[in-house]
Amino acid sequence: MPPTLKSAFTYSNQRPPKAAQLLHLFHQAPWAKDRSLDDAEEMLQHTDLTLCAWDGERLIGFGRVLTDFIYRATIWDVIVDKAYQGKGIGKEIVHRILNHPRLNRVELVWLCTRRPGFYEKLGFSSKEQTGMVWRRSRESC
Ligand SMILES: CC(C)(COP(=O)(O)OP(=O)(O)OC[C@H]1O[C@@H](n2cnc3c(N)ncnc32)[C@H](O)[C@@H]1OP(=O)(O)O)[C@@H](O)C(=O)NCCC(=O)NCCS
Repeated sequence: MPPTLKSAFTYSNQRPPKAAQLLHLFHQAPWAKDRSLDDAEEMLQHTDLTLCAWDGERLIGFGRVLTDFIYRATIWDVIVDKAYQGKGIGKEIVHRILNHPRLNRVELVWLCTRRPGFYEKLGFSSKEQTGMVWRRSRESC
């Protein structure tokens, strides 16, 4: 279904998406294209905070946070439906996460990205390159 012309998309941290709706977005991104319904359902159960953008009943954008609500928060899986990109939705999702009342004591918000230009515009810096990553080999599972 093509996007509607109305500009008033809605944003919510109270209305979690269904895993199937989320997979529709995940499957548009190379880093999430192999994610399964069961795993996405379990991920949603254990995520501290979600931020969704909706066009009526259609999920058009998503971002999520894992956090201790005091010292650290990490933002993951920010994604906007391809048909809706370039309309300010991604920016609004990150803005709403950063200004969420439950996160207002968090000292440091961290994320990893292949889109640094998008996050730099939102005030993120890549000066502190202290991150390291360990990836589980799926073949050995
Ligand atoms: C990256 C993404 C979330 C941006 O969402 P979006 O709704 O299309 O972006 P917005 O319209 O809110 O753009 C906000 C600003 O960022 C800029 N921007 C958007 N994507 C960008 C990119 N890939 N690189 C640099 N700047 C970008 C826009 O030009 C805009 O600038 P402006 O405020 O000066 O006009 C979206 O393109 C997406 O889902 N991409 C695929 C998934 C992905 O790579 N997610 C990142 C996970 S780390």
